Formats: sequence, C-alpha cells, structure tokens
Amino acid sequence: MNSVQAFGVSDDRRPPMNDLLEVAQRGLGASPKRLPSWLFYDERGSALFERICEQPEYYLTRCELALMDEHAGSIADALGSDVRLVEYGSGHAHKTSMLLQHLHQPVAYVPVEISADPLRQSVQRLAREFPGLPLQPLCADFSKPLRLPIPPRAPRRTVLYFPGSTIGNFDNREAAVLLRKMRNEMGDAGGILIGVDLKKETALIEAAYNDRAGVTAEFTLNMLVRLNREIGSNFELSGFGHRAHYNPMAGRIETHIVSRRAQQVRIGRASVALREDEAIQVEYSCKYSLEDFAALAAKAGLAVLRVWTDAQRMFSVQYLVRASMVAR
Ligand code: AVJ
Repeated sequence: MNSVQAFGVSDDRRPPMNDLLEVAQRGLGASPKRLPSWLFYDERGSALFERICEQPEYYLTRCELALMDEHAGSIADALGSDVRLVEYGSGHAHKTSMLLQHLHQPVAYVPVEISADPLRQSVQRLAREFPGLPLQPLCADFSKPLRLPIPPRAPRRTVLYFPGSTIGNFDNREAAVLLRKMRNEMGDAGGILIGVDLKKETALIEAAYNDRAGVTAEFTLNMLVRLNREIGSNFELSGFGHRAHYNPMAGRIETHIVSRRAQQVRIGRASVALREDEAIQVEYSCKYSLEDFAALAAKAGLAVLRVWTDAQRMFSVQYLVRASMVAR
C-alpha cells in the first residue's frame, strides 16, 4: 500500500453543474457583461493552458521554473524542516517536485485542486517520485473555506504554496480577502510561498496574452465552447474574438471576449443580446511591483519575509508570514 491509499482518496466538494447556467445568466445579465475566469478550466481549457505555458511569448512559466530551479534549495531552507506543504490550485504540480526535492523531512503534501483528473494524475506521479511522502489530495475550490486533512504527524509549520501568479486573477480587494483566508488556514507559525508576476514593459506583457500561434485566443473562446456543451447555449464561435489589453492604471491585463457583430445568444430560457464590438470581461491578470505586493500583503495582515527574483525582474517567488511574527 502506498502513502496515497494509506491516507485515503480525495474529498470531492466540487460545485454541482447546474450552477453553471446560473453563473452564465448572472454574468451575461450584468452590465458590463462578465464571466468568471474559473470557467476556462474544463478538460480542454486545462490542456490549452498547458500549451500557453509553452508559447515563447508566455514568459511567466519559464521564469518561475527557472527561479525554482535556481533557488529551490534556499527556498526550502527558508521554510525549514517538518513542513506540511499545501498547494492551492495544484493542477499538474510541475513546480512542486522541484520544491519537494529540497524540503527537509516534509510531513505531507496536500494538493488542493478542483479538477479531478489533473489531481489524480499529479498524485500518481508524485507517489512514484516521492515514495516516502504522505500525499493527502483534496478535490476542492481553494477560494472556499477548506477543511484540511489531519496530518500524519505534527508539522512545524503549514506552508501554503500558490505558484503561477494565480493571485493575479483576483482584483485587489478579492486578493486581500483570499490572502487573509490563507493566513487563517496556515496558523500562527505558517507561511505562504507565492508566485507573483511583476510589472514590466507593456509590450512584453501584452505579447504574453496575445501569442502569435493563437493558443491564448483559443483558450479564451473555449469558455463559449464549454458553455455550449454544458448548458446548451448557442454561441456561434465565428462571431466572437479574443482581446487582451494591458491597463496601466490598474496594472493588469484585461481579457475580453468581443462580439464581432450584433447578435442574440440563447442562455437557458433567456435570450441575451450583444451589440457589435460589445465585450464580455473574462479575466484579469494583475501585475505587481514589489512595493505593490508588500502593500497587498500588509492589507491581509502578512509581511514579506523573502523575495526571489530573476535578474530582469520579470517574475518573483515570495515568502509571506503573519505580520505579527516579524520583529519590527
Ligand atoms: C494561470 C492565472 C496565471 O493570468 O497569466 C494565461 C492564466 N490566461 N493566459 C495568467 C492565463 C491567459 C494565467 N494564470
């Protein structure tokens, strides 16, 4: 029996599918129209995101992997021994292996992921890669309150790992709320290891969300494909386009699905009218300066203890602890 079986299979708390119709109706009934970015990640969307990560323009993944490759040892030293590592939105958990290799006597790894298949696959791979490490997968939405599984032995600290600049998908107020929730879940001695994309030249940022191969456009429009399949809407794909612009005032990429013409779409029993060029807001990808992010952390009662960044300051991995734990 391996450690996965020993600690039980995942706890399935995914949202019921009929919520999707309600989410779509509410978002498309709002003004301006919007749809939540978690709708991207069905099976095809998750596969397209993996392909985005391989595009030459999408520097985020490449930079973060390079950072982990270079600094995993010093990151592990900063976290200390006997850590319970909890990963939020673990997906395929590629970066995690690099960290686990360096952690000193980790107590357990708890991947929290809403998509069951990537979760299962990553756990199978990690069980082979780290045969002695207890794995306690949790199939759940990390933005909701979590009931973490009981660890196999007492950890010195719980560290929440949140790579990939996923925090960028939340606006400032939501990000502070999420960080505050994480602060509560990690406890007094806990920490947060988080990947944060940094502000840089607009052209570089915009290129990352408008790759030449068109993978990001396909990823964006897949949201409509998913809705058509799962709630029976009738979005006509040729009638919509992808648009991603950097808003320098807000410091974020704003991604929209744009209607190419005036049209009607059926959503359940209702019909939604779209004007020519009308935009549906689908994603924010916030970019931070180191000062911006320290201020956000402070709003959530956290302090930045360490920052690892590349020479060009493209991306950062940051270690946060409770502000009350830092001597001033
Ligand atoms: C997974 C949220 C970090 O915002 O860069 C990539 C998602 N969207 N290309 C990001 C995404 C379009 C990505 N995050």
